[in-house]
Amino acid sequence: MNSSELQVKLYSAAAEDIPAMLRLLDSYAKKQLVLPRTAVDLQQNLQNFIVARDGEKLVGLAALRPYGDGFFEVRSLAVAHGYKNAGVGTRLVNALLEKARALQPPAVKVFALTKRPHLFLRLGFRMAFRERFPAKIWTDCLLCPKYDNCDETAVEYRL
Ligand SMILES: CC(C)(COP(=O)(O)OP(=O)(O)OC[C@H]1O[C@@H](n2cnc3c(N)ncnc32)[C@H](O)[C@@H]1OP(=O)(O)O)[C@@H](O)C(=O)NCCC(=O)NCCS
Repeated sequence: MNSSELQVKLYSAAAEDIPAMLRLLDSYAKKQLVLPRTAVDLQQNLQNFIVARDGEKLVGLAALRPYGDGFFEVRSLAVAHGYKNAGVGTRLVNALLEKARALQPPAVKVFALTKRPHLFLRLGFRMAFRERFPAKIWTDCLLCPKYDNCDETAVEYRL
């Protein structure tokens, strides 16, 4: 079943989404698939997030994090079990690219560090060296237990 058959629609995140966003992120953070986030962190950065809902149920989310100089990162990408492999993740990343395109001043580059590079490469991202994103390394990577053993691939999309 694809995501349109599932009636999944995308929205800007709202404050009422935060508990469900946290639950979904926590479930994957425990498996070290995404970085953990706190309620305060989500509240402060809510404008960066889009969510996928099936009716009232939150089934996915993703954020576009600004780094300055037109650089943005796709982060906190997650889709609920039972909704995977139906195109929801792809729609979330595409929606973030649309969001980046609509920004003023214009976004220059969107990047991600991911264990699922294929999902991004299908959308026109290219492989990159993570060293090209030093602000990401200083803010997240240096705190990561896998810093010296990183299992993620850097990908970038030039707008
Ligand atoms: C990674 C993740 C967000 C992908 O979400 P998803 O909704 O399953 O992603 P999609 O359905 O768009 O794509 C998954 C696969 O389904 C297939 N697919 C895509 N669109 C499809 C559609 N309309 N119908 C059927 N299959 C489809 C593709 O082959 C794709 O495989 P690929 O990624 O190897 O190219 C999800 O698996 C997840 O939440 N994982 C745990 C958290 C995580 O790892 N997050 C970090 C990601 S950087």
